[in-house]
Amino acid sequence: MPHDKVRVELGRRSYNIEIGEQLLDKAVFYKTEHRKVLIVADANTAPLYMSKVTAGLTASGATVHSFVIEPGEQHKTFATVEKICCAAVKAGLDRRSLMVALGGGVTGDLTGFAAAVYMRGIGFIQVPTSLLAMVDSSVGGKTGADLPEGKNLVGAFHQPEQVIIDIGTLDTLPPEELRNGTAEVIKYGVIMDSELFAQLETVNCRISREIIARCCGLKARIVAEDETEGGIRAILNYGHTFGHAVELLSNFQLSHGCAIAVGMAMAGQLAVAAGLWDESDNKRQQRLLETAGLPVRVSGFKPADIWAAMGRDKKKSVNKLTLVVPVAIGKVELHNDLDKTMILEVIGSCCD
Ligand code: GLY
Repeated sequence: MPHDKVRVELGRRSYNIEIGEQLLDKAVFYKTEHRKVLIVADANTAPLYMSKVTAGLTASGATVHSFVIEPGEQHKTFATVEKICCAAVKAGLDRRSLMVALGGGVTGDLTGFAAAVYMRGIGFIQVPTSLLAMVDSSVGGKTGADLPEGKNLVGAFHQPEQVIIDIGTLDTLPPEELRNGTAEVIKYGVIMDSELFAQLETVNCRISREIIARCCGLKARIVAEDETEGGIRAILNYGHTFGHAVELLSNFQLSHGCAIAVGMAMAGQLAVAAGLWDESDNKRQQRLLETAGLPVRVSGFKPADIWAAMGRDKKKSVNKLTLVVPVAIGKVELHNDLDKTMILEVIGSCCD
């Protein structure tokens, strides 16, 4: 079976991302010999893959326990992190033990956060089963939970020891989940890879192992350069300041990918209004988002409410809202000096 390996270079904390098919039950991919392991999956993912991952880990020499959490962003809370830690105590995990996050972004973020704080930090492995988690959230060590006031407001940087991506798991992914992840794939094209963008146009956003590996490689490069988002890593937040605001205002009825797509459309429109980006490139972005079945407009929100919610985003620094805006396909810039009236007009132009 063809298989890609991407290395995230972080000195002693470097790790590999394995990308292929039928990896989950293969002992050879897990570095878990003689360790106690707690696999965490949500109630949707556990019936599909828990037994395969258990078989792979057991064959690799680990003692395996499992814990099932409730699915959905509404459970991305401290309370779930506490439940995972209590399950770890019950299973007898010690400081050499491991947690394994099996599932999408919510499971990965929560399990990573639990691993970051359990006994002041133990190792963990990411086994992402959604496209979004494969190309974005499982790589780079951002872990956390939401507060009622906003997404990901608590968390820790805690790198996984491995990321194991079995692209066969995409076969069971609902189409809306595939769309979610495609928003992040398109994001990489706009922010740093014009060839990827053109490839997505050619294949009408059909996602392949090669495209997933390419995105992981891009993310690995950024994380190696700026692990804790002191600089360049902020470009990965393209579309997210607008997007998180509409996601929050919709009470998470709008999925993350759809919200980010709307956010990218707003950021693109803003770049054109500010004279930073050609309208023709903005149209290309809009077409590609629509090809992937993603929205570029929202309805039912007041622009002023979106603006206010953007002000609560944690990506704000020194009271200034920093926005990632495209200046070419494959290149973005950070701006914290764009006019509020212009931003409000742009938001309004993307709202029905
Ligand atoms: N999802 C953005 C980042 O990992 O920095």
